[in-house]
Amino acid sequence: MSLSLGGRSILQDVSLAVGQGEILGLVGPNGAGKTSLFEVLSGRYAAQAGRVSLAGRDVTSASFPERARLGMARTFQSPVVPAALTVGETFRATRKAYRPYLSAHDAEWAARLAHLDVDWERPAGTLDTFDRRKLLLACLIMRRPSVLLMDEPASGLINTEIDELDMIIRRLVDEYEIGVILIEHRLELLSAIADRVVVLDLGEVIARGAPEEVFRDPRVHAAYFEGAPDAREPHARETAWLSCSRSAG
Ligand SMILES: Nc1ncnc2c1ncn2[C@@H]1O[C@H](COP(=O)(O)OP(=O)(O)OP(=O)(O)O)[C@@H](O)[C@H]1O
Ligand SMILES: [Mg+2]
Repeated sequence: MSLSLGGRSILQDVSLAVGQGEILGLVGPNGAGKTSLFEVLSGRYAAQAGRVSLAGRDVTSASFPERARLGMARTFQSPVVPAALTVGETFRATRKAYRPYLSAHDAEWAARLAHLDVDWERPAGTLDTFDRRKLLLACLIMRRPSVLLMDEPASGLINTEIDELDMIIRRLVDEYEIGVILIEHRLELLSAIADRVVVLDLGEVIARGAPEEVFRDPRVHAAYFEGAPDAREPHARETAWLSCSRSAG
């Protein structure tokens, strides 16, 4: 696919695929186009060129809600929850969002699978970052998606929480055969969890393959650590550099 926004090219001839029960890591410096790629996959942005298919079905002209109904689930970089609703009300709204309506049992099942262990009477706005992410994830998996797009689900989490997230994702993939595309800056996490990775830089795929090979690729190092345009924020670049140094020993 290729995407332009406001006359600027954001993605150029990017192609990727994720299989059932597979984890595809998507990595790249700030502003590389990772979130924009999710916007195109999930149907919020229309690409100027390219096609999106889900389980063999062309969904290029399907809307965001239509794609959701067909089994595409997506999380966002910020875990924004309905602050005025309790956890229980959020689940209820999710169950009744569209037909077929789901049962309370479906919500309980999804909450367990997402490791959400909080009082359902609590306002969703009082949950911490990880519990918000778990609540939103539970709302998505309740509908039994076939593909899950996760945009930096580990951001703002501490190490023990990241280990737990890792377990949650692995279970979704191994037991429920969901295909996951995971945007993540921590290369060591992707090395541990991803079957394959794709590296984007300035809207183009610069490397793809097994994580350990890709993260050794000199072009990947160059994209992360050299010639950074001023417009990019340095923090993720630095984080990734540290991770890379560590994994390289
Ligand atoms: N709606 C928009 N209109 C114009 N430009 C946009 C829009 N959304 C994103 N962009 C631009 O597209 C480029 C890619 O942004 P994107 O958010 O996809 O990057 P990213 O790889 O997700 O970065 P990060 O790691 O910081 O989340 C950036 O230069 C951004 O400014
Ligand atoms: Mg992003």
